[in-house]
Parts: sequence; structure tokens; C-alpha cells
Amino acid sequence: MRPFRYHVVVCTQQKPENLPSCAAAGGAAVLEALREELGRQNLENDVIVSTTGCLGACNRGPVMIVYPDATWYGEVKPADVAEITASHLKAGQPVARLMFSDDAALRAEILNHRRKTLAAIAARDKAGILPEDISLQEILRGFMSSRALLTALELDVFTGVGRGTSAQQLSAKLGTDTRATEMLLNVLVTLNLLTKKDGVFSNTPMTARFLCADSPDNARPGLMHNVHLWDSWSTLTKCVRQGRAVAESPSGQRDEHSTRAFIAAMDRNAKERAAQVVQAVGNDFRRMLDLGGGSGAYSIAFAQANPQLHVDLLDQPSVVPLTQEYIHRAGLERRIQTRVGDMRTDHFGEGYDLVLLSAIAHMFSPEQNRDLLGRIYQALEPNGRLVLQDFILDPDKTSPSFAVLFSLNMLVNTEGGASYSETEYEQWLRETGFRETKRIRLPGPANLIVATK
Ligand SMILES: C[S@@+](CC[C@H](N)C(=O)[O-])C[C@H]1O[C@@H](n2cnc3c(N)ncnc32)[C@H](O)[C@@H]1O
Repeated sequence: MRPFRYHVVVCTQQKPENLPSCAAAGGAAVLEALREELGRQNLENDVIVSTTGCLGACNRGPVMIVYPDATWYGEVKPADVAEITASHLKAGQPVARLMFSDDAALRAEILNHRRKTLAAIAARDKAGILPEDISLQEILRGFMSSRALLTALELDVFTGVGRGTSAQQLSAKLGTDTRATEMLLNVLVTLNLLTKKDGVFSNTPMTARFLCADSPDNARPGLMHNVHLWDSWSTLTKCVRQGRAVAESPSGQRDEHSTRAFIAAMDRNAKERAAQVVQAVGNDFRRMLDLGGGSGAYSIAFAQANPQLHVDLLDQPSVVPLTQEYIHRAGLERRIQTRVGDMRTDHFGEGYDLVLLSAIAHMFSPEQNRDLLGRIYQALEPNGRLVLQDFILDPDKTSPSFAVLFSLNMLVNTEGGASYSETEYEQWLRETGFRETKRIRLPGPANLIVATK
């Protein structure tokens, strides 16, 4: 028996603007309608759905193929999906009116499309034009979309748009220029972050939920951290010339407002991962030291999983009052003590059976990390464990891409920080005296290295 009765393939290929494509014809809406309809008709476990790139019938998109029958449907609209689902996928009866009627003509059209595509590629190559499959333009101009969104966040545009507004009303509310505001709003529409009808801009369900101040899930305070990165990244060329951070106020030195935004961003990430980290590491500890604990999300998760645990959390003077707010909200003031300190120089005491170093090592140079690991070793009791969480590079330092880019983020924002490889961490840990190290891979960009004293 086959694993699924049907496999439905929907083309969602995008093409340069003005060229016909399944994406331009609404492939994504068809895909969404299909997924919803399969749920409604109780077929999720019988039918598997996947997307595909160009099939060559671009003038008749969106194209959908149903296997094992190999039935090709063209110009499918979301409104057709219920019929295809009920008739074909449930009752085994293909929908004749939506099928390509002439297989030979379809085959000729596809082969013709392939011939033309290859000819166009050859012509571009001959003329010395950049090949389209190299996304150079996309990379070069990626900053434009990014900057538009950062400005929208900075101005709190999504909250201002609320349930709907004209550019004029919004500019009056925000104290901005009407013409410029409208230009920005139009871009947010092309980025699918707003909709526009009869001159009225509205939030999408996503932006209403995650980017508006009156929503309980508002993520803007955390996302504001990205606004602050813009300035330091703009100094990258100078940093590469000089080999160190040159920004006047790299993100390591923040004012009160941006510290709050940064800690909120850290808290969001940490909350998402904390349960997995606790599960991976175990919760049989008595005394934990959380170095650079930020919002305290990890300390809180470890303490909630283990009622015997007592935690000391160390962070900078500007952060600790914010940490205390998070700990207070979790009702864990009795078991999580905060301490103002400087990880670069402090001695941490002794008798800990767990030290957490989450998203810290990348801020420091190799020399600083060696020194820090030495002081952590002193603080641990025999058999105590250090759990280091970070973006860990593969040996040649060109993957994973998040960690590689993050290394530049450290270049522009810290004195000597970078992303490091597992080999580097292992070497430092062995030199320090740790007897056993183990890498634990978790979903997401960060991984754990657990070292035992
Ligand atoms: C990237 S955040 C990580 C926060 C937390 N560990 C997490 O994983 O969510 C780095 C934290 O280290 C703190 N920090 C940076 N330099 C420090 C220093 N020299 N001494 C103490 N804490 C420091 C920052 O204030 C911040 O809370």
C-alpha cells in the first residue's frame, strides 16, 4: 500500500515582474485553500501536498498535478479547490472542466517554454548580463525592504494604522510628512505587511497580532533590537579595514531604552528554547550560576522544572533591575538571586553544580573566553557541568549561515567577539581542565556544548 492515496503538487514558482507565473496567478492562495479544504473534508491523512518550481505551463497557472493519476489542472482558483477535493481526492472523480484537455498540446507548450528559457539564458550569457539565478540584485537591494520595516517599527506605524487609516490621518497622528508616509505605507503593502483598499491602509492579521501595541502578543519591543543594529552594521566597511568595532555606540553599550528592547528580544528567543534546553541538560542540579542571564528566562525555566534548585544570576548594572522584573513576574525571587557583576573580571565563588553560559561566548575574544572558562572551572564543584549555548560554526567557518553572519554582527558590535567552531570550544575546554565535552544539537540556530569538570 502506498503511504498516501494522493500526492498533490502545486506550482508556486515566482518569476521576474511582468512575466506570467503560478505565483503571480495566485499559486500560494490555491495552496492555502487546499490545505484548509483537506482539513475540512477530513483528508489530511490521506493526501500529501507539496509545492513545486516551474512546470513550464506558466500562461495557465496556477498549475496543480494530482498523483498517482498524473492529472494536470490549470488556472485553478481557490474557489475550485473544494470541488477538486470532494470530487477527485475524496470520490476519485477528476474534475474534467479544470483539466488540461489536450496532452499533446500541453507537452508541446512545456517543451517550447523550456527551449525559450534556455535560449534566453544563453542570450544573457552572451551579452555578459548577470545570470538570473544568481540573486546578486536581491542581496544588494535586500536592505531596502529591511530599512522600510525598521522605519515602520521605529515610528510604530502598525499601531498607528490600527483598524484602518489613510496616509493623511496616519501622518497627522505620527507627526510625519504625508507624501513620505504614503510612500512607506505602499511599500509595506508590497511586503504583505499591510493591505490597501480605496486609499485605506489596514493591518494584516499577522501585523495586528504581533506588531500593534494593543495586542497581548505585541513583539515590537523585542524586534526594536534590530533597529539598533542598523547603525552598527553601517560601519562594517570601516570595521573590516580596522579589524574591530568602530560604531560610536555599538550595541554592547546601550541606553536605557535600547537595553529594555534588547532584553525583551533575548527573552522572546530564550522563552522559545528554554524548555528544550532544560530537557536536554536534565534538572538534577542544586546550585546554578547563570552568567549574563539577561531576562532570566533560562534560570526561570530551570527553577520551575526543579523545586530544589537555587540560582545565582549575574549581569550588568543596567540589566539586573530588568531581570528582577522578569523574576518577580515568575514569582521566583526566593530561589533566583541576582548579582551585579562583570563576567570579564569577577571571581564567581564556588560550589555550583551547573553553570550556564548562554549566548555569551560570542561576545568575547578567544583570550577572554579562555580566561572566563578558567574562572567558571573554579566555580564548579567536581563533576559539575558547564552548559554553553551558542551559534556554533562548522570547521571551515562558512556554515551554518546564521552563525557565519552572526560573526560579523559581533565584529561590528564588540571589541573581539565572533562565532566559534566546536573545535575551538573543545580546545579551550580541554586546556581549562574539563574532562568531558559533548555537543547537543537542538532545533534552531544555537547548539549546546556540555562540559563536565
Ligand atoms: C546575548 S545576551 C544573553 C542573555 C541570556 N543568557 C540568554 O541566553 O537569553 C548577553 C547578556 O550578557 C550580559 N553581559 C554582557 N557583558 C557582560 C559583562 N561583562 N558582565 C556581565 N554580564 C554581561 C548582557 O547584559 C546580556 O544580558
